[in-house]
Amino acid sequence: MPLRVLLTGSKGQLGQALIRSCPADVELVACDRSQLNLEHADACKAIVETHRPDWVINAGAYTAVDRAEQEPRIAQVVNADGPKALALVLARHGGRMLQLSTDYVFDGQQGMPYQPQQCVLPMGVYGTSKAAGEEQVLNVLGDRAHVLRTSWLYGPVGSNFLLTMLRLHQAKAAAGEPLAVVADQVGCPTSTLGLAAACWRLIQRASQVQDEGIQEQQLPSILHWSDAGAASWYDFAVSIGELGVAAGMLQQAATVIPITTADYPTRARRPSYSLLDCSLTSAALGLEPQHWRESLKAVIAVLASA
Ligand SMILES: NC(=O)c1ccc[n+]([C@@H]2O[C@H](COP(=O)([O-])OP(=O)(O)OC[C@H]3O[C@@H](n4cnc5c(N)ncnc54)[C@H](OP(=O)(O)O)[C@@H]3O)[C@@H](O)[C@H]2O)c1
Repeated sequence: MPLRVLLTGSKGQLGQALIRSCPADVELVACDRSQLNLEHADACKAIVETHRPDWVINAGAYTAVDRAEQEPRIAQVVNADGPKALALVLARHGGRMLQLSTDYVFDGQQGMPYQPQQCVLPMGVYGTSKAAGEEQVLNVLGDRAHVLRTSWLYGPVGSNFLLTMLRLHQAKAAAGEPLAVVADQVGCPTSTLGLAAACWRLIQRASQVQDEGIQEQQLPSILHWSDAGAASWYDFAVSIGELGVAAGMLQQAATVIPITTADYPTRARRPSYSLLDCSLTSAALGLEPQHWRESLKAVIAVLASA
């Protein structure tokens, strides 16, 4: 019997990568916001009751970090109440859940990579709503849910830093202007392609564990996945320029100049250091993350060949 997996947020950048990399033995029910709106608990309940999935991958989320500061109620509803509604109906019907989450549940003050079991301390509304979503899902489903936190997500489609920087490199280089990018926030850029592979591996491993009843191999309930290495937004922007030119995506890269967070004020505060320690996940899934620069090269190659 194929695994039946219901995906929320199917038009998002991770949703698209999950659809493209869906394993042959998975029957995927992909739902965009019009088909499954996380603001409506009744819709969440109805769609799970209709499809009775073995798993829900909740890739749908309110991800506008700055706008969330002005819309805390909607962020909470989409990122916490919606996932809870999905978890409640799965608890009744027997399915499991993979809840995506973020490095922004941490405050970035410890100066070393975060372990999955560390206490969360979000700095803004978005991180607070995602932390609440994690808690709700784990409270309702216990070991039938997994939270997978990731960071600085980008890919060949959607709205992300890579695509914005490619546009800005082009425009600034043509105008002979520098491109100013924040250099005092450190994290790890993560490709949607690698993250999607980790999601599918997690589901396969967790399903095997369940079928075979091997309790000691139980996957942890909270896992971290990012690409390997560390970067500032400035480092990321410089590499996008270099690799964009090398792949023929850009005629010329703009000169990137480092600025501080104080030079580029945003409505939401962001962690200054939000690396995630992924070693436990890597061991549990038998999957090594690529260095972020290799992943970036691969995503730019996809864009260049499109
Ligand atoms: N982006 C990052 O840098 C980042 C970093 C760490 C963790 N994450 C987490 O990774 C996961 C995937 O993020 P992503 O980057 O793929 O996000 P994304 O590209 O912004 O996609 C989110 C999707 O959620 C959908 N959505 C928004 N409100 C919804 C609602 N009320 N009901 C149902 N769907 C709704 C959006 O629909 P529309 O297409 O209609 O807008 C969109 O398709 C999220 O859990 C996010 O919190 C992201």
